[in-house]
Amino acid sequence: MAKTTILSLLSLGMLVCSAPQTETACRVEQLLDKMTLTEKIGQMAQLTIEPFVIADGTGGFTLDTALLREAVVEYGVGSLLNVPLSESQPAEVWGPFIGELQRIATDETRLGIPLIYGVDQVHGGTYSLGSTLFPQQIALAATWNPAHARRMGEITAYEMRACNIPWNFAPILDLGADPRFPRQYEGFGEDPYLGSVLGRELVKGQEGDDNDVNHPEHVATCLKHFLGYSVPASGKDRTPANIPWNALMEYHLPAFREALDAGAHSVMVNSGIIDNEPVHASRRILTGLLRDELGFAGVVVTDYEDLEKLHARDRLAATSKDAICLGINAGIDMAMIPIDYRGFCRDLCSLAEEGAVPMKRIDEAVRRILKLKFELGLFERPNTLPADYPRYGCKEHRQASYAAAAEAITLLKNDGGLLPLDPAAGRKILVCGPNAQSRRALCGGWTVTWQGHGIERHPELCKTLAEALGERFGRRNVEVIPGVSYDAHESRYDTERRDRFDEAAEAARRADVVVLCLGENSYCEKPGDLNDLALDPLQTELAERIAATGKPVVLVLSEGRPRLISKFSAKIPAIVQSYLPGPQGADAVADVLTGKVNPSGKLPYTYPAFPNSLAVYYHKYADEQRNTDATYKYEGDYNPEFVFGHGLSYTAFAYSGAKLTHEGDEIVIKADITNTGDRAGQEVVQLYSRDLYASLIPDVKRLRRFEKIALKPGQTRTVEFRITKEDLAFYNLENERIAEPGEFLFEIGASSADIRATLPFKL
Ligand code: BGC
Repeated sequence: MAKTTILSLLSLGMLVCSAPQTETACRVEQLLDKMTLTEKIGQMAQLTIEPFVIADGTGGFTLDTALLREAVVEYGVGSLLNVPLSESQPAEVWGPFIGELQRIATDETRLGIPLIYGVDQVHGGTYSLGSTLFPQQIALAATWNPAHARRMGEITAYEMRACNIPWNFAPILDLGADPRFPRQYEGFGEDPYLGSVLGRELVKGQEGDDNDVNHPEHVATCLKHFLGYSVPASGKDRTPANIPWNALMEYHLPAFREALDAGAHSVMVNSGIIDNEPVHASRRILTGLLRDELGFAGVVVTDYEDLEKLHARDRLAATSKDAICLGINAGIDMAMIPIDYRGFCRDLCSLAEEGAVPMKRIDEAVRRILKLKFELGLFERPNTLPADYPRYGCKEHRQASYAAAAEAITLLKNDGGLLPLDPAAGRKILVCGPNAQSRRALCGGWTVTWQGHGIERHPELCKTLAEALGERFGRRNVEVIPGVSYDAHESRYDTERRDRFDEAAEAARRADVVVLCLGENSYCEKPGDLNDLALDPLQTELAERIAATGKPVVLVLSEGRPRLISKFSAKIPAIVQSYLPGPQGADAVADVLTGKVNPSGKLPYTYPAFPNSLAVYYHKYADEQRNTDATYKYEGDYNPEFVFGHGLSYTAFAYSGAKLTHEGDEIVIKADITNTGDRAGQEVVQLYSRDLYASLIPDVKRLRRFEKIALKPGQTRTVEFRITKEDLAFYNLENERIAEPGEFLFEIGASSADIRATLPFKL
């Protein structure tokens, strides 16, 4: 039934709620009809919880009920976010805590509208103590296995409901096309297609196949940050970006489009600025694109304090009130205010009364928010109880996290077959580097606390690399000397000058093999901004000192983004990328180093070698002019340390019999893959297309399909990919998606550069 019909029937008092799809709409209209302007605006307000809790000095807290009543009862505030005391809480605390908030909202407000509580559970239960924490999304991407994204989604949703939290500010679908960006690790890497496949699974895992978020084991997802957040010109968080519209559509939109098609219930807005327009003020993006073109009917929430930023940061609005006007009229439904709600509510009320924000816009926003609350089942069941979720943080869930970590670990280099290291060989191992004993370095930001430092207070939740290696090789054989240590302060992500280089180098001389654990300390958002993508100078110096001993070195990287290692990488025979593998990551890395796990991760981004060559693999042909001029040598833009899609195995895979056929409108591409080594292993078979000539400079290549397969020694499997003409289309200068006739090449291979078969095709 059309909305207008529902409205007119309602006003005539003739509406009977019956058919299930109209029942919610009908209940929404009945409720909306009863609401005052103040109550409506309260529903559009979201506050952070911190000001409403009082620390009791023993690690616990109480609720400041007077302050909360003012917000929820007097002002009608309808949503809260974040975690009490800014630190992870157990389910037994979360459950009754949100229960009490809901009791106040449902019992003490005039209309009894439940609250909707949202939290950033971005790699499992960020803020749920004892829950299952997974590898960060960048590591999930490195598995190239959608099943892990699905499972992480399912477990996260289950454990969120165990904590009485129905709304997750995840997944993160920002394109990881700039390695400098401090939130690279939160997303799925640089490829739009890989991000789309995994993003869909993460949505479906949390919302269920049918997006029935009323189900007690499902939550509503929030896709973020819409749109074009991750490529600011400076590489720094929340600084201006320049993105042509056709590039926004071609590279940044696909993962969001796919997740919207998968039924995601809400969207969070990009905190940044594109072409001088803050996205929170962009009617073109928030209404034109998201609503009119993509047909999104769910809730749009701002990011943290972002309406105010239109005034205070961007100087787009002379007052906070003007800023609210701009944002709400651009298409925002809910404002993550998150503190000064009295000003927001007062200003938005007068904007509505003055007609500067049309009542139609307010009603539309509130309608969507109420609909979400109904769909989540919050009116019938405002609370879910911890006792109903016995599998919270259970062994099986931790095992799923381990499985994802184990498949993510990427073997980047293995000269002379240094790896695996047989524990039975009795070799003396030096475990060295600042990540050897750091839990933060494995888990990253959004772990127990925002900046991730809180995990160090919970050694029971996460093993260190040194501990896991000690278990495998025997404590007597393993010496641990970090050489460099991180600053313990929460806002610092860099290393401090506490060097013990001489001691480390001496220990290396005593050892047979060095496992050098380098990378980054945990960070998140702006505190993670960088002036230099190179690995920290102290860690670089340590690597050089260790390499100079001449002992075989296995470099284990744990890092949120690819820090440059080209100063010393040539001297290191084996390099293992662990990304941010989460609390089970140390075991996963140790199992890869010892060969218990055969590595099968592939880089979900290009690992750059130089600061002035940060191109993605789908750069332009024009960037390829390397050394073609006889007089002047050009450097070329794509000369990375490791290419996109790269990752070695302890076995080898042969590709044969590649062929291309047609079935109706479909192009069918097949190849036989054989495990030619003597170990079982998994291969990620990758299909790229190259458009040879086009009316806009084509990308050198684009990933179109992939499949991860497991093969026993000697076993062969046929992999089949099906694509259509549509898959080969691109956005032109008129921003239309067109498939142009012409010549193409399909490439099948083990990475974006390790191509094993090329098949020509004419469109
Ligand atoms: C981040 C968002 C997050 C929000 C709420 C913001 O600073 O940009 O990703 O969802 O905080 O915690």
